Amino acid sequence: MPLLIRNGDLVTADARRRADIYCEGDTITRIGRDLAAPPGTEVIDATGQYVFPGFVDPHVHITLPFMGTMAKDTYETASVAALVGGTTTLIEMCCPARTEDPLGGFEHWLRQAEGRSACDFTFHMGATRFDAAAESALREITRRGISSYKIFLAYKGAFGIDDTELYRTLKLAKELGVIVTAHCENETLVAERQRELLAAGDTGPGAHYRSRPPVVEAEGVHHLMTFAELTGAHTYIVHLSCAEALAEAVAARGRGVRVAVETLIQYLTLDKRYAERPKFEGAKYVMSPPLRAARNQAVLWQALRRGVIQTVATDHAPFDFQPQKHMGVGDFTKIPNGIPSLEERINLLYTYGVKRRKLTLEQFVAVASTHAAKLFDLYPRKGAIRPGSDADLVVYDPRYRGKLSAKKQHINVDYNAFEGWKVEGRPSVVTVRGQVAVRDGAFVGSPTRGQFLRRTPSRA
Ligand code: URP
Ligand code: ZN
Ligand code: ZN
Repeated sequence: MPLLIRNGDLVTADARRRADIYCEGDTITRIGRDLAAPPGTEVIDATGQYVFPGFVDPHVHITLPFMGTMAKDTYETASVAALVGGTTTLIEMCCPARTEDPLGGFEHWLRQAEGRSACDFTFHMGATRFDAAAESALREITRRGISSYKIFLAYKGAFGIDDTELYRTLKLAKELGVIVTAHCENETLVAERQRELLAAGDTGPGAHYRSRPPVVEAEGVHHLMTFAELTGAHTYIVHLSCAEALAEAVAARGRGVRVAVETLIQYLTLDKRYAERPKFEGAKYVMSPPLRAARNQAVLWQALRRGVIQTVATDHAPFDFQPQKHMGVGDFTKIPNGIPSLEERINLLYTYGVKRRKLTLEQFVAVASTHAAKLFDLYPRKGAIRPGSDADLVVYDPRYRGKLSAKKQHINVDYNAFEGWKVEGRPSVVTVRGQVAVRDGAFVGSPTRGQFLRRTPSRA
C-alpha cells in the first residue's frame, strides 16, 4: 500500500523544509507540498512533528561470544528495539574467533540475522587473524557485499591482532577499497595494568578505568594512524572516548591520514563516576574504552559540532547484570564489557544534544544517520530523504515527555544504564522501506522485513 506522510518538518543533514513524502513499494517517489493521496494510500499526519531519514547505528553487537559468555540480544529483540528507538539500519560487528574460518564466521553471523530481523542490517567483517586463508576469505566476503572490516588493537589473546597482521589487513583493505574500523587501545599496556591492579587488591569495577587510562587509548589511535599513513588505507576509529585520543586522530588528519571518528552516546552522557557506584552497580557501566572524566564530554560535543567527529553510535553490547556482569565479582577483568543503548541512542542524542543546544537538528541527522550511510557505502539508499531513497522514515514527536526504564525496553537485558533519565521526544511513527513498523512507541511491523544490505567498496 502506498504511504503518504503529510505536512511534516523534514530535516536532513543539510536542509529543513515543510513537505509531504509519498512512498511506493520500498522507496520514496515524490516530495512536495499538498501531494494527493490516491485511494488505498495510508496517510500519516506529521503536523507539528519532524520527519528524519531512518537512523543508522554503525556499531552494534548482537551475536557476540565474548569474555566467556554470549551477548543477550538476538535479531528478534535487537531489531525491534532499534526500530522503536528510531534506528532503521544496523551495522553489526561480525567477530569470529581467531581460530575460526572467517568465511564460516561470516555465514554464521548472516544466518543469525537473515529472516529474523525487523530492520535492515549489514556487517563490518572482523579481521581477527591475517594469514593466506584469512586473506582469501576476506576477498570472498568483500565480493559477497561487505565493504568494511573491523580490527581490534585490544583484547589480547581474543580478537586482537599483531602488527604484522595489522599492516597486511590495511594493505588488503587499501587494495580492495574497503574502509577499516578499529578498536584502538594498547593491549599490552592494558594486560600489564590489569595484572598490577589485581595484585594490589584493586579488584572492583572502578579499577577498569585505571587499567585503561586515556593515554592507553591515545597510543592505540597513534599506532593505527602510523599504519594507516604508511598503507594509505581508509580508517574509522570506533568508540573514541577522550580528548587525548581525539588529538591523535586530528594530528594524523593533519598529516593526510584518511580517518573518520565515531564516538558513542554513552561517552556523551555518562562519565567514570558511574563505574564507581557501590555494591557492584558500577559493573553495569563497564565498557572499553572506559567511561571517562566528565570534562571530556564538552570536547566530544564540540568535535561533533565542528565535524571533527563524524558519527554517534552505541557499541550496543548487552550483558545481564545478573549473572553475567557478576562473573567479575572480585576480578574486574572478568566483567563482560558493554553498556547497552541501541534503543535509547536517538532519544538521548535529541534530548541531551539538540534540546540542550549542543547540536542543530541538521547536525543530529548527520551524525546519527547520514555520515554513517556515506562512510559505509549505503548512501543515498539510506541516510537521505529524496526520491529513490529507501522509505525508512522517522516521524519524531518533540512534544513527547517520558522516562527510560528497563521495565519498558525491548532489548533483552535486565537493566537500563539510563534508568529514570528523562527524554523530551520520541519516534511516533517509524517506517521500514515504506511499511509502518512503529506507532506510538509500539512495534507494529513485520518481524522479518529486514534485509541484508549488500555494499560495494568505494575507496579504491
Ligand atoms: O565494551 C565494549 N566496547 N564491548 C563490546 C566489544 C567492543 O570492544 O566493541
Ligand atoms: Zn571495541
Ligand atoms: Zn564494539
